Amino acid sequence: MSSRLTRKPDRTKAQAESKTGAPSDGLPQHVAIIMDGNGRWAQQRGLPRVMGHREGVKSIRDITTECRRVGIDRLTLYAFSTDNWKRPRGEVAFLMRLLKHFLIHERGELMDNGVRLTAIGELEALPKTVQRELEKTCALSAGNQATTLCLALNYGGRAEILNAVRQAAERVRRGELEPADIDEARFRSFLYDPTAADPDLLIRTGGEMRVSDFLLWQISYAELWITERFWPDFRKEHLHEAFEAFRCRKRRFGGLPDSSRPSSTAS
Ligand code: IPE
Ligand code: IPE
Ligand code: MG
Repeated sequence: MSSRLTRKPDRTKAQAESKTGAPSDGLPQHVAIIMDGNGRWAQQRGLPRVMGHREGVKSIRDITTECRRVGIDRLTLYAFSTDNWKRPRGEVAFLMRLLKHFLIHERGELMDNGVRLTAIGELEALPKTVQRELEKTCALSAGNQATTLCLALNYGGRAEILNAVRQAAERVRRGELEPADIDEARFRSFLYDPTAADPDLLIRTGGEMRVSDFLLWQISYAELWITERFWPDFRKEHLHEAFEAFRCRKRRFGGLPDSSRPSSTAS
C-alpha cells in the first residue's frame, strides 16, 4: 500500500513551497466553495450549458489535489442545491450522470491521495444509483487521513436548519431534551455533519455576490472571497490568490484585535 494513502501531508513544508511565496502559516483549515459559472463558461464558447459542468470536474480535481498538497483539513464543495431541481430536466439528469461518473472514476485518485469523501444534504432524494456509488466511495475512503472532501448534494442551508429544528423538537416532545438546553453546541449536533468545523474561507466563483443558501449556520464568521472567474477556469493558482487574501484578513469574531484593545477596562 502506498504511504501516500495514510500519511498526513506536511502542511508546513507544502506551505513553505507555495507558489505565492507568502509566509508558511495562515492557511484556512476549512475551505468552502460555491462552484458557480459553469453554464456561462459554456455559453461564452457557444457550447451547451452542460459542457461547462463537465469541464468543471477538472477544476474539482485540481483544487482537491492542491488542498490536499498544502494540508487543508476540509474542502466543502457546493455541487447541487435543493433549488437546482428547478432547472430543465435534461440539465438535472446530466448533472446526476456526471456525479455518478465522478464518484466511480475519481475513486482511485481520491484513494491515492488519501482523501476522505463525505457528503451533506438530503441525500435520500438523489437517484438510487448515485446514492449507491456515493456510499461506496465514502465507505472506501472513510479511513483516509488527509483532506476531507465534502460534497454538498441536494443541499440547502435552510433545509439543514429546518431538519435540525425538527430533530430537536422531536427530542423535546419525547421529554429527552429541555428547550433551555438547546445551545449552539447542542444545535450543531443536529446538523448534517456535527463534526465539521465551520468554514474559515468561503470562495464563490462566477461573480455573484450572494450565498445562495449555502451553509447558512456555518458561515457566520467565514471570510468571503468572490472572483468573476467561472468555475471551469478556476485552478490552483486562483486558490492561492484566495489564500493570499485570507492571510491578510483580520478576523475578530465580534471582538477587538489585540492591538486596539484598551489596556484596562477598569474605572
Ligand atoms: C454552477 O454553475 C453549477 C451548478 C449549480 C450545478 P451554473 O450552472 O449555476 O452556471 P451559471 O451560474 O448558470 O453560469
Ligand atoms: C449555487 O449556484 C449552487 C451551486 C453552485 C451548486 P446557483 O447558480 O444555483 O445559484 P444562484 O441561482 O445564482 O443563486
Ligand atoms: Mg449559477
